Amino acid sequence: MISRVIILLTTILLTITLVACGHQEATEPTGAAWVDGERLAAADSEPGNWMSHGRTYSEQRYSPLAGINEDNIEELGLAWSFDLNTQRGIEATSIVVDGVMYMTSAWSIVHALDARSGEPLWTFDPRVAKEKAKHTCCDVVNRGVAVWQGQVFFGALDGRLFALDAATGKVNWEVATLDASLPYTITGAPRVVKDKVLIGNGGAEFGVRGFISAYNVNDGSLAWRFYTVPGNPELGFESDALEMAAKTWNGKWWELGGGGGTVWDSMAYDPELDLLYFGVGNGTPWNQQIRSPGGGDNLFLSSIVAVRPDTGEYVWHYQTTPGETWDYTATQHIILADLKLDGETRKVLMQAPKNGFFYVLDRTDGELLSAENYIDITWATHVDMETGRPVEVPGARYEDEPFLMFPSYLGGHNWHSMSYSPDTGLVYIPVLDIPANYGQPDDFKYNPGVANTGTHGIVGSLPDAQAEREAMRALVQGRLVAWDPVAQKEAWRVEHKGPWNGGALSTAGNLVFQGTANGEFVAFAADSGEQLWAFPTQTGVVAAPTTFEIDGEQYVSINVGWGGAFALVFGEFVQSDSLPAVNRVLTFKLGADGSLPPVKWKPAVVFNPPALNASEATLQEGFGAYQDICMGCHGLNAVSGLTIPDLRGSAYLWDPRGWDEVVLGGKLRDRGMASFSDNVTPEQSAAIRAYVIQQAHRGKALTEAK
Ligand code: HEC
Repeated sequence: MISRVIILLTTILLTITLVACGHQEATEPTGAAWVDGERLAAADSEPGNWMSHGRTYSEQRYSPLAGINEDNIEELGLAWSFDLNTQRGIEATSIVVDGVMYMTSAWSIVHALDARSGEPLWTFDPRVAKEKAKHTCCDVVNRGVAVWQGQVFFGALDGRLFALDAATGKVNWEVATLDASLPYTITGAPRVVKDKVLIGNGGAEFGVRGFISAYNVNDGSLAWRFYTVPGNPELGFESDALEMAAKTWNGKWWELGGGGGTVWDSMAYDPELDLLYFGVGNGTPWNQQIRSPGGGDNLFLSSIVAVRPDTGEYVWHYQTTPGETWDYTATQHIILADLKLDGETRKVLMQAPKNGFFYVLDRTDGELLSAENYIDITWATHVDMETGRPVEVPGARYEDEPFLMFPSYLGGHNWHSMSYSPDTGLVYIPVLDIPANYGQPDDFKYNPGVANTGTHGIVGSLPDAQAEREAMRALVQGRLVAWDPVAQKEAWRVEHKGPWNGGALSTAGNLVFQGTANGEFVAFAADSGEQLWAFPTQTGVVAAPTTFEIDGEQYVSINVGWGGAFALVFGEFVQSDSLPAVNRVLTFKLGADGSLPPVKWKPAVVFNPPALNASEATLQEGFGAYQDICMGCHGLNAVSGLTIPDLRGSAYLWDPRGWDEVVLGGKLRDRGMASFSDNVTPEQSAAIRAYVIQQAHRGKALTEAK
């Protein structure tokens, strides 16, 4: 309550100041979210606040708070919950400063809440045009905000960067960081370093040229931009770094949308070295033979890059997957720590990118110190310490024949945050263990505005026979792995019911918190992995928890809401007890005993397909077009994850004209289903419908056989 009053008073004061001064820069240093570089660099001196995405600039996601610990965790209960009025994936990490929580929901909606009570203070909806969802590979998610000197920054799905007044939620400024008609999106959280807001973007599947930009906090003017792949060499290069990078490319990658290399998630900053680190994504298309015929490393795809935060000047890079051809991004969480290696304390940077290796680099110069695989992988044998390159297995590039490999394009680890505990010396990795099949497409034609992987049968069709299906399902696993980065080996693991579980948080209470895909928020002992506590969240959890303290009382908070790439695509594998529709903030403290309202709605597919009367050729065409264009949202094999309609149960299967009005005419564009008239022909639309009818009959038969 007190903080609420303070905020109210601040708001009034601020309003008076603004009116008096007639401009917007006059926020008092005592105002809401008054965080600056000094305060962030000293974040450990005020562990009660969670002031930036990974809590500290080192992004360790470890909290020195120990009020909640392994001895009293049984008393942990729900203090409050807040309903977000969205029904998609929730990926945001909450920021908590001086009793106020700032977080984002699906569709880039920002909420400020009283962190003690969950009472809403303000909400800001950037009103992203729903049809922009067409350019998302992986749901309409957002990973959170950054705060700095009284402002709240976030990137909207359509590429606008906003600066809001932290006390009121009013817009101070907004800039378009990209051309929204191009298939870029923003889902990542910005960071602020030395009066500059840093923001990247996503869209590398679709055909874009990746970059990260820095904007001045006060007026949103562009300070610098670092492109991660070279443009058309005939037009010249933006920097020496790009001139160097261009030597590692072949062909005309810029004609396929731009080469990819989006910077869609991880960043970290070392104030002492004054280096900003960020991770770079995959190529467009994934298949390197199409993107850069003849090979080449294709810098800076799949790399960790270090630049000067003031200028964006290149300092060093380390490429995890040279010539990537599997969607092996290096956008995964970057953690900075000081580790004792061979008796010497080294300033390291750690990452477990999609490719399955855990890397420890010297963050002063990018030197590779060690790399071992954190899951069983089949595409490479090891990383050569001389060259710093993975040693690939013959055939892994699927040049002549399809190759079934681990890990998949979802990675051995994806964006789900890790955590490093200096107490245990362990890194907690939310691991995905999923195979994928890669193969050459019969023909490839760049299709602007939709996903262009350039690979065929990337996940393939699941077999019809139930036994074979179960066998494939058994291959799809997920776990929490505690990794010793010094010894480069696993300390312990907890198997989960499936992959795509939430991010991790470790605390000085010898605890690791993680939400799971099957709807639980769990606490494990950080040293042993023993499960100590669990709370049913009523929906799958993919976001990462935060913890904070108000008046000496520790809270743990998690944003829940099943979603993201796996949730949409792998409908087949989505746990039956994942309830997709619930989007909430859940906050816990000792002694609380709150409960959630009973779940009213559980989605299910009702099969009622019309008779199937299409030729085998039509069904094949429908299958191909569906896998290329519709699968990313409506699910593999037309089995949806249920946050987006399962087309096998659609009434439009009976109504060819209505179907085309949706698919080609964009009738539901304001509900997130854009027109695909630029990407599919009327014949293909009809073929997709026939394929879905076929899948509906199969689904019906499987259900009846149970
Ligand atoms: C970017 C995500 C996305 C992609 C890709 C996508 N859709 Fe959709 N689609 C949606 C959403 C969201 C809805 C639900 C809209 C609503 O709430 O009414 C939907 C609804 C539909 C519906 C109406 C279902 C019903 O019964 O109400 C049809 C038909 C449909 N989509 C077909 C397709 C086809 C065919 C493709 C591929 C050519 C496709 N969609 C690709 C997101 C997508």
